[in-house]
Formats: sequence, C-alpha cells, structure tokens
Amino acid sequence: MSDKLQPTQYSAAKSFLDSAENLYVNTKIYSLFTQRKHAFLQSSHFNSFLDYRKRYWALHDTSKGINYSPSERRLNVGKAVSENNTRMANSFLKGCGYMMTDMLNDSRILSKQKRKIKLVLSLCAAPGGFCQPLVEQILDCRILAYSLSPESGGIPMLFEHERVKLFYEDVMKLSSDQIETQKKLLTDDAFDLILMDGAWASILQKDEQKQEEEFQYDPLYPFTTKEFSLKVKELILMIENLKENGIAIIRLNIKFKSLFGTVFLIILNSMFADVELFRPKGNSPTFWSQQFTYAICHNFKSDESEKNKKMLSRCLESSLAQELSFLHLFEEASESLVKKCLEQEKSYFGDLAETYKQKYEELLKSIELSYSRNVHENRKSRSEHSGSKPR
Ligand SMILES: C[S@@+](CC[C@H](N)C(=O)[O-])C[C@H]1O[C@@H](n2cnc3c(N)ncnc32)[C@H](O)[C@@H]1O
Repeated sequence: MSDKLQPTQYSAAKSFLDSAENLYVNTKIYSLFTQRKHAFLQSSHFNSFLDYRKRYWALHDTSKGINYSPSERRLNVGKAVSENNTRMANSFLKGCGYMMTDMLNDSRILSKQKRKIKLVLSLCAAPGGFCQPLVEQILDCRILAYSLSPESGGIPMLFEHERVKLFYEDVMKLSSDQIETQKKLLTDDAFDLILMDGAWASILQKDEQKQEEEFQYDPLYPFTTKEFSLKVKELILMIENLKENGIAIIRLNIKFKSLFGTVFLIILNSMFADVELFRPKGNSPTFWSQQFTYAICHNFKSDESEKNKKMLSRCLESSLAQELSFLHLFEEASESLVKKCLEQEKSYFGDLAETYKQKYEELLKSIELSYSRNVHENRKSRSEHSGSKPR
C-alpha cells in the first residue's frame, strides 16, 4: 500500500465542496462559503486533510470490520461518555491536563506570555484539568473558577488547590457583578487570562438531546442551541471581565461543513490583535482530545469589543438563538479580516492533515506487523506439523 499523496486530489476536494454548497445557498453566509471554497481549493493542506482522513477511516473500518456511519459513530461515543459521570470526570481531568500542558509549552502565544499570568477566570472549569498545569507551572497564579454543580448535571471538580477558588454556578445565570464581588475577596487585580471551555452535550438529558438533535446536523448550527447559548454567554462574560491586552482561550468547533466556528473566528479576530488556532496533540493519551480545537487569543482590545457585546447579548436575549443576529457582523467584516480567518483555517486544516497522516501511518504499520506475525505463526505451525524446523 502506498502512503504517497495522489496528485489527483483536487477533484476530490472539489466534489466535497460542491456537495456542501447547496447547504449554504440562500443563507446569510453564502458569500463566506464561496470565499472559503475558493481559498481551500487552492490549498494543498485542505487536499491532504481530505485525503488522509478518507484513507485513515477506510483502513480503520476495514481492518476492524466495522461499517458504521459518522453519525452512528458520534452517537455511540456520546452514549459511552454520558453513561458514567465519574469515569468521564477522570478522563477529562487527564485529557484537559495534557491539553493545557501542550498549550503552555507549544502555543506560540501562551509559551511566551505564560509568565505574565497572575489571575485567571475559568468558566466551566470542572473537573479542573486546565487548572492543574496552570497552578503547577505558574507558581504565583491564582484562579477563580465557575462550573455547573453535579446536582444540576455538571461534572464534579476533582482538582483542589489553595490557589484555585471554585464556585458551583450555572454560567448561563452568572453575572459580571457576581464575578467582581467574588474576585474582590481575592484581589483587586484584573483577569490576565479567561478560559471558556463549556460544553453542553455531556450534561444533556436523553430526551433533551433528542429535541436538540435536528440542530446538530444543520450546517449553521454544529452545536445544540444550548451549547450555542453557552458559548455566546462565555464570550459576553469574557468581554466584560478581561483586562486590556489580556489573553482568552475558547474551545471552537471548526468543521468545513459548518461555518459556525468560522463566524466565531471572525468575531474573535475583531476583538484581539492576535489569534492562534491550536490543536493539542502529541503527548495526549486520549483519542478524543485530538478533536478539540482552541482559539488562543492575545491582546484584547476592549473598545472594539463593545459592539460585539451588544450584538451577542441581543442574540442571547432572543428566545430563538437561531436568529443569529451576530451574522451581521460577518456582513460588516472587512475583507482583510475574512482573509485573515481563511488563512488561519487553512493552516488549521494543515495541522489536521498531519494528525490524520500520523494516525494513518501508525495504523498501516500495526496492520503490516500483525500480518507478518500471522504469516510467521502459520509457517511455524505448518513446519511443526511436517516435523521440519521453521525458517
Ligand atoms: C469540557 S468540560 C471542561 C473541562 C475543563 N476545562 C477542565 O479543564 O477540566 C465542560 C464543563 O462545562 C460544564 N458546564 C456545562 N454547562 C455549564 C453551565 N451552564 N454552567 C457552568 N458549567 C457548565 C460541565 O459541567 C463541564 O464541567
């Protein structure tokens, strides 16, 4: 089996993009889609991402004898995760710990700026995987953390430390006044870093999950409506609490077939001077962490963020988050801003291609190894039967 890229991949990328196009015609973000399509068709990164992803899954499913669809795969993973809260908390603690360690060591922004971080606001912080490497690596940093209580369906906080102060609160109901009051008990300093790692999927009840399912597969809404609202709320609290020139880290959902992450990226690029898309990898033992993408944003510009705050608040207040009033921002976004986001995404798909390439090559090796082991075993048993020595 050859592990070289085929030169004909342009046509595969084009047909993939063509098949997604009708999802966007007549939507407010159609022009964003066409810009992306144009940019990606010229990107070797995107081509190799599609190619290696296809090869990896084909080889994986063939070698394991499985033939399920991506949506079934997602449902199975979701079920396994939601069945055991404590196991999930432990796995998140480890996985998030590795991811934050990766970010602190390898992120272009964080590796340089981490020494300046003294005060952190962590939204949706449990089980504390991010907090642990932060307090261990940055000896004078303190963290004010909020997370949904286990009684309300949240993950329990497992990491305890004298420099981490946790409050079990629903972030959807949390106000900046409350944050300010609780922060004042610790310090008068402003937040240097704000972490936004909320996720609803794990805490949804099964019947709720069903109601939300239709949104899961809509190209505009890769999140459930609740998850979308949580992300928007995190952003509003971030705008109200981050200090000028501060750092923010937010988990994003960047997928080609949903432009939601791209729109978030445009919003982030309009509020921060520097945005780095970061995929933790390498030393993480857990497979799921390969799929997480974070935007690490530096040099917060508070005056430029006011209009975003108004727009995001409107979006949250409207009972239908789907109204997506924030998409107007995209319509207003300057060409250079959109271009910058497309460049960030292209390099993101380059990273993704690299990960799939590694996984594909490892799988290939392990299959070849087990094949040659089988051949050896067969030869050995044949020669034992015939009484001669194995060669
Ligand atoms: C991916 S985990 C975060 C892991 C965390 N970053 C760490 O380092 O361990 C998502 C967290 O969001 C919490 N969460 C979900 N909805 C929430 C809400 N409305 N308010 C506060 N926390 C919420 C979950 O309970 C869970 O602890």
